[in-house]
Amino acid sequence: MTPFEVFRLDEWGLDLESLMGEFRSTFDELEWDHYDVVYRRVALMKSLLPHHAEELDAFHRDVFHGKRPLGEPVPFEASLDSADRARLFDIRPARRRAISKFVLDRDGDTWSSRRISMGAFTQNTDDFRCLPRMFAPMNAAFCDSDPLRRLLHGVADLVRRVREGARVLEMIIHQMSSVARQGASASNAPEGAHQDGVDYVVSALVIERHGIEGGESRILSGEPQRCIFNRTLLPGEGVFHADRDSGLWHDVTPIHVTEPHADGLGKRNLFGIDINVIE
Ligand SMILES: [Fe+2]
Repeated sequence: MTPFEVFRLDEWGLDLESLMGEFRSTFDELEWDHYDVVYRRVALMKSLLPHHAEELDAFHRDVFHGKRPLGEPVPFEASLDSADRARLFDIRPARRRAISKFVLDRDGDTWSSRRISMGAFTQNTDDFRCLPRMFAPMNAAFCDSDPLRRLLHGVADLVRRVREGARVLEMIIHQMSSVARQGASASNAPEGAHQDGVDYVVSALVIERHGIEGGESRILSGEPQRCIFNRTLLPGEGVFHADRDSGLWHDVTPIHVTEPHADGLGKRNLFGIDINVIE
């Protein structure tokens, strides 16, 4: 097996219609990720006011720890000139998301899975993603649906191909909709090339691309990093690979609107799955 594996749902007898069916609209019901806005606004403020970086980092931590409300204005914004203020307020939410967690057990030659409750989401990384974030859970009926279980079990089979004997897995599934507005691209990886701090990831399983270009998945390796895989995944295609301590990093290019939806937006809807081998 190569360090990464591109898979297609229909190879698992699971086409998009049978997976999403009545749940396709759940992408449009996801809550906006306001943490991203704080991250991007703080990053802009730090570039404009580098001598205030410490206070801005403290503000960022306080918001993520729930000590300040998510909508609180970023410090020092009153000191910006009108052009920079316009840049700051141009930063608007660009992805909607929900998150759910499962434990999978190998029983003979089949998997069983159960959904478990999810508290704050933190990542085992050395950037802002190690701070706690709270996201709404995915639609419960969709989580408990047979096609979603088949998806998770298919991913678990991929893990066993590279990790013989793995029998208990923890999976966090992220349902995400990257949303681009006309004249404003959207990135699903504002931190750039990154790892998610878990054993394995499905860095993207694309469900829908609507009215956009871009959104090319990339895997990088080596020092200096060079791209060893790039592909604009089509609906029904996903990419699976090792993550923490693997020497592999992943990224995705921004999306831009080409033919907007009736609401003027372009969208890339996908799942990402973080996987840890427990036993
Ligand atoms: Fe990622």
